[in-house]
This record gives sequence, C-alpha cells and structure tokens, in this order.
Amino acid sequence: MMETAVQCVLRYHEQTKHHLNRYARSLGYLDWATQPDPFRRFEGAPQLPLDHPPLSPEPRYDALFAGQPVSGCPMDRHAISRLFYDSLALSAWKQAPGAGRWSLRINPSSGALHPTEGYLLAGDIQGLGSQPAVYHYSPLAHSLEQRVTLTGQEWSSLSSGLPAGAVLVALTSIHWRESWKYGERAFRYCHHDVGHAIGSITFAAATLGCETQLISTVGQDALAALLGTNRQHGIEAEHPDCLLAVFPRGARPSTKPPAVLVPTSLLERLATCEFTGLPNRLSQDHHAWPVIDEVARATHYLADEAGADEAADEPPSIALPGESIDRQQPAQQIIRQRRSAVDMDGRTSIPREMFYRMMSRVSPHRGFPFVVLPWPPCVALAIFAHRVDDLPPGLYLLARSARHERLLRHSLKPDFLWRRPAGCPDGLPLWCLVEAECGRLARTISCHQSIASDGVFSLGMIAEFEPTLRHRGAWFYPRLFWETGLIGQVLYLEAEAAGIRGTGIGCFFDDAMHDLLGIRDRSWQSLYHFTVGGPTDDLRLQTLPPYQHLQLRGLARDR
Ligand SMILES: Cc1cc2nc3c(=O)[nH]c(=O)nc-3n(C[C@H](O)[C@H](O)[C@H](O)COP(=O)(O)O)c2cc1C
Repeated sequence: MMETAVQCVLRYHEQTKHHLNRYARSLGYLDWATQPDPFRRFEGAPQLPLDHPPLSPEPRYDALFAGQPVSGCPMDRHAISRLFYDSLALSAWKQAPGAGRWSLRINPSSGALHPTEGYLLAGDIQGLGSQPAVYHYSPLAHSLEQRVTLTGQEWSSLSSGLPAGAVLVALTSIHWRESWKYGERAFRYCHHDVGHAIGSITFAAATLGCETQLISTVGQDALAALLGTNRQHGIEAEHPDCLLAVFPRGARPSTKPPAVLVPTSLLERLATCEFTGLPNRLSQDHHAWPVIDEVARATHYLADEAGADEAADEPPSIALPGESIDRQQPAQQIIRQRRSAVDMDGRTSIPREMFYRMMSRVSPHRGFPFVVLPWPPCVALAIFAHRVDDLPPGLYLLARSARHERLLRHSLKPDFLWRRPAGCPDGLPLWCLVEAECGRLARTISCHQSIASDGVFSLGMIAEFEPTLRHRGAWFYPRLFWETGLIGQVLYLEAEAAGIRGTGIGCFFDDAMHDLLGIRDRSWQSLYHFTVGGPTDDLRLQTLPPYQHLQLRGLARDR
C-alpha cells in the first residue's frame, strides 16, 4: 500500500524524536570539512546596498502590543532598509579567544546555522529601484541582489489583491545548512526558524506602522518559480516556504484577506527568462538525509488546499495585563539587542505580574503579532514555573484558545489540579496543574540542558497534532512549527523588555514530555521548548559590531 502524505509526516515525526536513551539520527559529530557557508550569494547579480538606519526612539516596544497608531510610512528605500535591518540582518559578531568569528542575526536560529533566506518582491522603490523586481536579501552585505525585473503590468497583476503600498517578503530554507549538524531532525528546526523569521519581519514591519499577513493563495511551485529557486537542484537547493505581504496599517480592506494571484503569463515568462546571478556553493561535500526530502515532498503546499484561507478565530476583546504599560523602551532597541542566553544564573526571579504579562503577550487574544497567521491557534503552552515571585513553583498550562482548554482537560492527566493561580487576571486562560519544584524534570526533558531549569520559567509548546494534520493535510505540518517559532520570537523580545533573556530549545525528549503530561497518543505533541531567565554571560567571548567588515572593506577600497 502506498504511504499517504499524512502517514509520511507521522513517520518522520516519530523517527525524529529524541528519546532518553537514543537521539534522533545525525552524524553524531561536527564534520568541519563540510560546514556550509551561512551566506547565500547570487554571484553576478546587481547589488543594491541598503541603508544602516540609526536606532529610532519611536515607536516604543509596548506600543506595538497596545495597538497605538504608528503612522505607516511609504515603502521607500528608508523603510525597506529598516524592514530588513530589523528582521534578517546581522546583529553582532562573536569571537572566542584563539578561535574564528561567527556572526549572529536579528532572527535567532537553532545552532546559529541560519537555514532561512529572505527575498523581496516589490514595485518601484523610491531611492532604490525604478522597476518592479524580485530581490534576494544578503544579510552579510545588508544589500539586495536583483534576480529578475518585472514589468509594471506584471507587478500590478501580482499585487492587485493586496492593500495599496504593499510589498512582499518571501522566505526559503536550505535544509542542508541545518542537517549538516542535526541530521534528520533538521526539517523541524528549519521550520522553527521560519516561524522566528516570520515574527522578526512582523515586528520590524510594525515599527514602520505596517501590518504583515501570511499569504495562502500562492503554492510552493508558484513561489519557487517567482523567486527563481526552482532552478536550483540538489542538497543545497532552497525550498520555498512562505510569502508575506507587508502593507501600511489600515490599508487592509476589512472584508477580504490580502491575496496574491500569480498570472500564468508571468509564470510562463519567468520559466524562460534569465535570473541574474548564480547561487554560491555552500559546501564541498555533503551527507544526505533522504527522509528530509521525503517529508519536504509530503508537506508540499498547493494553494488550493481546502481551508487554507480560514480566518483566525475572532479574538475576544479582553483587557489583559500590560496593555496600557509603557516602559519607554524603543522597539528597535529591544529587537536589535535580542540574544540567546547560553546559561542561566539559577537566581533571578520576576514579579508575578510580569509573568502574567508575558503569558498575555503570547496569547492571540488581541491580534498582534499572531494575526499574521491566517489560522486559529494550534498551540498551547505547558510551563515549568521555577522562580516567579508569589507563584508556587509548578507545572502550569496556558490554553491559547477556549477550544484547547476543553480538549486538554480531557487529554491530560486526570489528577491535574486545573486551579486558577492567585492574582491571575480574568481572561488569561492560565491554570496550575501541579504545585512542585520541577527544575530537574525540566532539565532532563530538555536534553539535560540546565538553561531549562536555571531560569525563571521554561516551557513546552504542545500542538494539537494528528487531528490537525488529518483535518487540514500534511502541508500543515511546517505551519505548526511556524506558530511555535512565532511564539518563541515574542518570548525572546518579552524577555529582553523585562531585562532578562530567552533561549529557544529544539533539543528535548519528546515522549518524556508527553508522559509527564499524560499524553498517550498523537492528539497533542510537544514541538518546541523555550526558556526565560537571568542570563550569565560568557566573559571569554568578545562582541563586535555587525557591519564593521563593510566599513573596513570601504576603507581598503578608498586607500
Ligand atoms: C529553533 C531553535 C532551537 C534552539 N535550540 C537550542 C537548544 O536546544 N539549546 C541551546 O542552548 N540553544 C538553542 N537555541 C539558541 C540558538 O543556539 C541561538 O539562537 C543561536 O546560537 C543564535 O544566537 P542568538 O539567538 O543569540 O542570535 C535554539 C534557537 C532556535 C531558534
């Protein structure tokens, strides 16, 4: 019997679980000889350098959540420069004594391997390009590489279902960058990273007064044709993931979601025209992980999938803690300073109200930033609270939709308390399941990593899993990870705004987490873990500015 796409995804998911006595298949060591280049370049493509915008005091970080109007600016050179500088650009270089340098970015990535590539599709951009075009974004040079130009007519057709002034940002993944280190589990990590990148773009756009919306009307084949990535073959090829519309706030018509329809005539022309630039080779040699190609094929998205455009649940309009707060922190500062904690101090605690605010910010009740995803929430949070003042340590649950609360009361261990924590604001669906110190348990479950026990809290993101895949289709599997990545991105920024730090945790023992919660089937699966706490810095590491190399190159040229 032929395996169905959903069966393939379920097989992949089982096969790539880490178990207490066995990790998912990978090389088991780092093969430095095949380490992939973290930067894709299209050699020979015209380069359009972007500006390096100074940090602006406005808007403030808290204002992004409060829905306070930020006047939308036109998508000119300045805005496009900021959009990328505050989402996918470099944010620093790190250097260890006696070792080489490595770069870090605004968007986080498992193992700092950065499989995600970004593209811009836009009409003419004042001060940048006088013709509509498709560009690849180069984080190393902070520049756009022009791949192909479009006619005015082609851009008009492409953008006819979008609000006025919209541009499109596309994301692709190079699975090899991630599988080089993580082997078969890498497909999951690539899609966590896509979720983080969607979050990064949504936040950067919001600082410009723009909304972001994931487009469901373009399938992966059409996206690859638009980006020219369908010309790439082999293990280093980019896989088209998603298309996002970015447009001035308030420009969205209330009745219809933004849509992109790719005219057949455009696809026909692009099939035969030249895309400028050749993709650089990333590694001299490779290790194949065929199951990643299998799951990538099984989850292939065709735009006519039923229910793809389902609008998100109408969020209840409840006032939750923190919506009126203004800590006077510039949003760009929080975005640019985001960093992963490599260790937690085991001491720092936060006030209960701050914890409730963070939980409120990852609830989709108000829209931003979760409105970017055109589906109702699929993910709930199982939280190990370690050091929250006036909150007993224990296992808590944040049900991010009323439906989830009903389902989880049924699916989780029958002896859980389901008690409202003291002082928890009405409308925040947070429940205490067990009161107990659970640091050791959290650390064990997160592959024995002490960042999961030594912080303020850590958590597992549990997704309504097999029923969702059976109902929607295998193509939804990556999207479950995108949702978890977006939640992770909010937690990263919330931690920065609170003066502490977060870290994504892709390494955890899947079924150990399920056993703890009493999950015995695949109705719910933990897809991503996260920790927040007081960081301890590695003082041996030197931090260098992100774009010093461009200044040095400029100086060398001028000499
Ligand atoms: C999906 C994902 C999974 C991650 N998993 C782990 C992990 O298991 N352990 C860990 O110490 N860091 C983990 N990290 C943190 C990354 O190593 C970190 O993002 C990367 O080194 C880049 O550093 P930065 O976040 O400071 O930019 C993860 C990050 C992401 C986005």
